This record gives sequence, structure tokens and C-alpha cells, in this order.
Amino acid sequence: SFVRIARLDDLVDSEPRKVGVRGQVLDAWTRASEERLGAVWLVRSGSSVTAYSTICPHLGCGVDFRARERKFACPCHGSAFAIDGRRVAGPSPRDLDPLVTRVRDGWVEVRWRRLRQGRRLRVEI
Ligand code: FES
Repeated sequence: SFVRIARLDDLVDSEPRKVGVRGQVLDAWTRASEERLGAVWLVRSGSSVTAYSTICPHLGCGVDFRARERKFACPCHGSAFAIDGRRVAGPSPRDLDPLVTRVRDGWVEVRWRRLRQGRRLRVEI
């Protein structure tokens, strides 16, 4: 299901913003709401927003945004990604992982998911 994570008005066009994602955890041992699930990079373009996982698809390091260079980058192994998530350098086997996003009542909502690293194709965990 979708998780509400940010106000659209708080995002600036083409200025990525890292936002934490909290939601429900449900498994055989745990049932908790409002747990920290992870984080996403939000990139606004007018009235629409794209969300990318902050986890590098290579080995799972956190991806930073380098404002001066206008790109996302892993600080450890050199993978770099354009602002639209395309891989432009380094060992990552694929582009940044996008998450399904929508805007409802002025709020940005994402459908949270985690994906395996080190594979060219996306496989959900
Ligand atoms: Fe470092 Fe991806 S984990 S380049």
C-alpha cells in the first residue's frame, strides 16, 4: 500500500530531497506500525514526483546527491546516477530503483519495496 511521506509544496523542482519512509511491519514475529522502513530520494517535476531508493543496486551502500555535479553517487565504489536515475558510471548493474509514487491531496505517497542488489534485473525481496 502507499505510504504518505512528504508535502508536495515542500519539494523544489529538480532539487532532490531525501525523505525517510515509515510504515507497517508485518511478519511472523512482528506487527508494528510506524516503523522506519528506509528512505527515498524524491525528485519533483511540476506537479509530479519521482522516487528512487537511496540504496545502491550494486552492494547496498547509501547513495548521496552531489548538488554541484547534479548526480547521485555511492561514496564507496564509484557508481553514479543522473538525476533521472540512469546509471552513468561505476559497477552498479542497473539504474537507481524507482518506487511507484502518487500525489494525493497535496501529499506525496510511495509504494515501499526493497530489491536485491548485484543483479541487472530487479527482484523484489
Ligand atoms: Fe558502492 Fe554501489 S554499493 S557503487
